[in-house]
Amino acid sequence: MKAELLYEGKAKKVYQAKGQPGKLVLSYKNDATAFNGEKKATFVGKGRLNNEISSRIFEYLRDHGMESHFIEQLNETEQLVNKTEIIPLEVVVRNIAAGSITRRLGIEEKTHFYPPIVELFYKKDELGDPLINDEHAVLLTNITALELQQIKSKALEVNQELNKLFSKVGVQLVDFKLEFGKIKDDIVLSDEISPDTCRLWDKETEDKLDKDVFRQGTGDLIEVYEEILHRLEAKV
Ligand code: TMP
Ligand code: ASP
Repeated sequence: MKAELLYEGKAKKVYQAKGQPGKLVLSYKNDATAFNGEKKATFVGKGRLNNEISSRIFEYLRDHGMESHFIEQLNETEQLVNKTEIIPLEVVVRNIAAGSITRRLGIEEKTHFYPPIVELFYKKDELGDPLINDEHAVLLTNITALELQQIKSKALEVNQELNKLFSKVGVQLVDFKLEFGKIKDDIVLSDEISPDTCRLWDKETEDKLDKDVFRQGTGDLIEVYEEILHRLEAKV
């Protein structure tokens, strides 16, 4: 299924799919990083869990009318996806205050946002992925102002669907990060949606069921990712 390795990121490897131009194989790794790669560790099973969880979520979104680059799960750690032209933005949607927004703006953790807040970060490791505004995004990337509006409204639609999904399984969707790409003139949801890229809190106990347990060293990453997968499998 795989041909040449095109790119290796912090959490995934990207291969050209053999004999299928326009398609890629994403291979999820067991590595975890935080703070722009400063903190690193390997967790046996993480690649499988993120692949399973991300596949279930992209399938759920597809069933609810939202396409993405995802085509199908191939095996425990790999997905077949459509190749997109990368847009170097991290699009973060926040329903509840946590993480960088609490430090940056002095907002108390757990403050609810309604309407949800959309933030844009410029994907550039050397700059530490800075927060940028809409004009910066149009200047620094290959998209128009109109396409940026499409990206933001798609991000809010994903938020609505994922809020419903996670709510059914007793999880609060605190915030999450999306990436988009382009296929010709279409804006396409891409990358992954997993506990690496979302903050997920148990609704009752507010226990963290995401990568914050690794970032903050407060829990067992594999245990909480397993918990998310089990809850999703019971529903999706
Ligand atoms: P932040 O509070 O650190 O800005 O993170 C917001 C959300 O984005 C959170 O769910 C974690 C996710 N995220 C990533 O997926 N990748 C990143 O590099 C960062 C900084 C955050
Ligand atoms: N993924 C980023 C890194 O490797 C940051 C994060 O998720 O906290 O540093």
